[in-house]
Amino acid sequence: MAIAYLNGEWQAPEDAKISVFDRGFMFGDGVYEVMPVYWGKVFTLEEHLVRLNRSLGEIRLKSPLSDEEWKALFAQAIERSGEKTALLYLQVTRGVATQRTHEYPVNVAPTVLVTVTAAPGLDRQSITPYSMVTKQDFRWGRGDIKVISLVASGLLKNEALDEGYDDAILIRDGLVTESTASNVFLVKDGVVVTPSKSSFLLHGITRDHVINLIQASNISFEERDIREAELAEADEIWITSTGHEIWPVGKLNGKTVGNGEAGLVWQAIDSLFQSSKKEQLLR
Ligand code: PDD
Repeated sequence: MAIAYLNGEWQAPEDAKISVFDRGFMFGDGVYEVMPVYWGKVFTLEEHLVRLNRSLGEIRLKSPLSDEEWKALFAQAIERSGEKTALLYLQVTRGVATQRTHEYPVNVAPTVLVTVTAAPGLDRQSITPYSMVTKQDFRWGRGDIKVISLVASGLLKNEALDEGYDDAILIRDGLVTESTASNVFLVKDGVVVTPSKSSFLLHGITRDHVINLIQASNISFEERDIREAELAEADEIWITSTGHEIWPVGKLNGKTVGNGEAGLVWQAIDSLFQSSKKEQLLR
């Protein structure tokens, strides 16, 4: 059962209400996290809290709760939802300011929303490689902050959908940044490559976890700039995110990637990823 926590109140998500003066509603002035829940526990919890605190710091908003308090709140939300495989969404905005001004309000409590919604686990057999398109990345220059304003990402995703693709791979100054809601990896001649961290892309938690798994195995790995032209030559392309885990791309700009199926390196890393969930949460 989906559950929401809004500023101390527990309710059904559809009943939760915020003020029209909430800075999240008026200005998109807030940050968020989406965390994966497996077996009733948050996976990569510490990493999500580090990123949350970083995002809050970057937008000059003091965290309303300590890490221990966040953990207790998340555990309670999962428990109340009764869900075992779910997505936990957390949004923190700058709160309610009764005057609409760009200036930050003082002494205003942030708005805190947590929801837990069921997310049926991915059946490995049913994963169908995506057909993607490259698009110019016209989002703002601080993609490393997980802000709730997602207008540009929404536009890019929906342009891709309207053109018959599943999603877009974004290009800035000739280099791959990420996808509209996921990070990008490619495999060429047995080497896995992903763009280096910068202010133009989100430092995905799944991305970091996948890099750790690759580095702990004997697969070659490089974190560096990826030129747009390299995508067309790749043997495999994947996207990574909390909701998609590691997802293969079978076609790019209408051209088949590899043989169009999930590749061998994807299979190896996906299998390590699935085991790592059990190792972390079922110990
Ligand atoms: N999206 N890049 C962008 C722009 C994202 O929005 C996301 C996550 C990622 C992957 O990050 P992570 O591995 O930490 O989920 C990369 C979330 C899931 C969303 O907005 O729904």
